[in-house]
Amino acid sequence: MAIERTLCILKPDCVKKNLQGEVLSRIQKAGFKILGFKQIRLSKEEAQEFYAVHKGRPFYDGLVEFMTSGQCVPVALEKENAISDYRELIGATDPKDAKEGTIRKLFADNKGENIVHGSDSVENGVREVNYFFNASELI
Ligand code: RTP
Ligand code: MG
Repeated sequence: MAIERTLCILKPDCVKKNLQGEVLSRIQKAGFKILGFKQIRLSKEEAQEFYAVHKGRPFYDGLVEFMTSGQCVPVALEKENAISDYRELIGATDPKDAKEGTIRKLFADNKGENIVHGSDSVENGVREVNYFFNASELI
C-alpha cells in the first residue's frame, strides 16, 4: 500500500469542547504520523475557498459560518493508506450514521458540527495539506 497524506482539521466544535488532545491521541494511536499542526482562525474568504467544491449546496453558507466561528486546527497526516484509514477512523459525516467507536460517533453533536474534517481522495489530501502548510513546515 502507498504512503498517503490526508488533511485533518479539528473543527471549531472540537476546539470549543477542548478535545484537541483527545482526538489527536486517537489519530496517533491509529498509526498516523503528524507532519504538522497549528491552531488558527479561518477568515470567511479562506473557508469559502477551502470548501469551494461545496459552493451552491444548501449547507455551504452554514458550513462557512461554522468553520469561521472559532479557532480550528489543521493537521497534516501521513500513513500507508491514509485517506481510507482516516475516514474509517472518523466515521460517517452524520454521527447518527457513524459506526460505534469512531471519532464522530464519540464526540460529534450533528451532521454539521462533526468535530473533524478529512480529505476524500489522494489528490485532495496533497492539495489540502499544501493549502495549510508550506514545504518548510512539513520537513
Ligand atoms: P469533511 O469534508 O468535513 O471531512 O466531511 P465529509 O467529507 O464527511 O462531508 P462532506 O459531504 O464533504 O461535507 C463537508 C461538511 O459540510 C457539513 N455538512 N453539513 N447539514 C448538512 O446536511 C451538512 N452536510 C454536510 C459537515 O460539516 C461536513 O463535514
Ligand atoms: Mg468532504
